[in-house]
Amino acid sequence: MSTIERALNKAKNEDEKSFISSDLTSQITDENRNLENNSVNFQKTMFVKDDTTDNLKKNTTETPEIQHIDWDHLASLGFVTPSKNSDATAQEEYRNIKRPLLNNAFGVGSIGINRSNLILVTSSVPGEGKTYSTINLALSIANERDKKVLLIDADVARPSISKALGIKSSPGLIEYLEGQAVDFSDIILKTNMPGLSIIPAGKQHKHSTELLSSNRMIQLTEQLSSRYPDRLVIFDSPPLLAATQGEVLAGLVGQVVLVVEAEKTPQSMVMASVGKLVFCDIVLLLLNKTKTTEVNHYGYGTYGH
Ligand SMILES: Nc1ncnc2c1ncn2[C@@H]1O[C@H](COP(=O)(O)OP(=O)(O)OP(=O)(O)O)[C@@H](O)[C@H]1O
Ligand SMILES: [Mg+2]
Repeated sequence: MSTIERALNKAKNEDEKSFISSDLTSQITDENRNLENNSVNFQKTMFVKDDTTDNLKKNTTETPEIQHIDWDHLASLGFVTPSKNSDATAQEEYRNIKRPLLNNAFGVGSIGINRSNLILVTSSVPGEGKTYSTINLALSIANERDKKVLLIDADVARPSISKALGIKSSPGLIEYLEGQAVDFSDIILKTNMPGLSIIPAGKQHKHSTELLSSNRMIQLTEQLSSRYPDRLVIFDSPPLLAATQGEVLAGLVGQVVLVVEAEKTPQSMVMASVGKLVFCDIVLLLLNKTKTTEVNHYGYGTYGH
């Protein structure tokens, strides 16, 4: 890696470090932004001049390592990868599933919707296909050249995204929410798929529900929405009827995808879940694991207010 590349990486790291460093970040004025830019430029210059010192070594180790997604493992688990060998029908179905989400996030559908670029994928009960849908959606969107996706494993009690992708699992969301000198730049993982970044769930924590409803989590979601408005942020979540965490998370996002396992989840449970989401602006129902060959395996029904 050339000196200039290292310097640019360092500057980018600094930018991510400044993320959510203060409660007032979202109120940065244009004047302050200029000051911030100047400061980053200054750091770049210092970094290049400092080429031979220990400082460089320290900063070089801070260069984010790229997480390599284990595509073969992912394919063996049945996920819909961008590979040409992947099921073309499933790829097409995810194209159809992501369109309304993108329109609600960035198109005319976003008008009047707070945090429209934040999407929670949830379900009524375990095993309906949240993680399956979350990863497939994220891959399908990141596969579009001009789109960026941040995938967050917010199913902190039963995390599975890192294992499925074959990437590191900690530190993650929980460590960040605990505070204690864990920066945003410490938990966001770049991957070898351009446009796809991951925040793993992190370690198990007995007060994870409190952490997910903490001020730090509220600030994180606010800033993910305001500082990265061009990026789609997709959260994998716990099921709604098993614990309160899913409901808490639903209150922090602009769109909710409620995965429903076809021919299995009773209507009463779906209605109970919908009842927990009445305060959400946009709720899309995703019918998953349909067996019939006459219709798509996945499909949306919408629930609006
Ligand atoms: N559309 C689908 N086609 C084929 N297999 C699927 C589909 N959706 C989910 N599965 C499989 O069903 C199982 C459960 O899916 P998944 O782990 O995504 O559910 P989940 O809702 O995240 O469960 P949990 O609540 O335990 O986290 C997995 O083995 C997954 O690969
Ligand atoms: Mg899951």
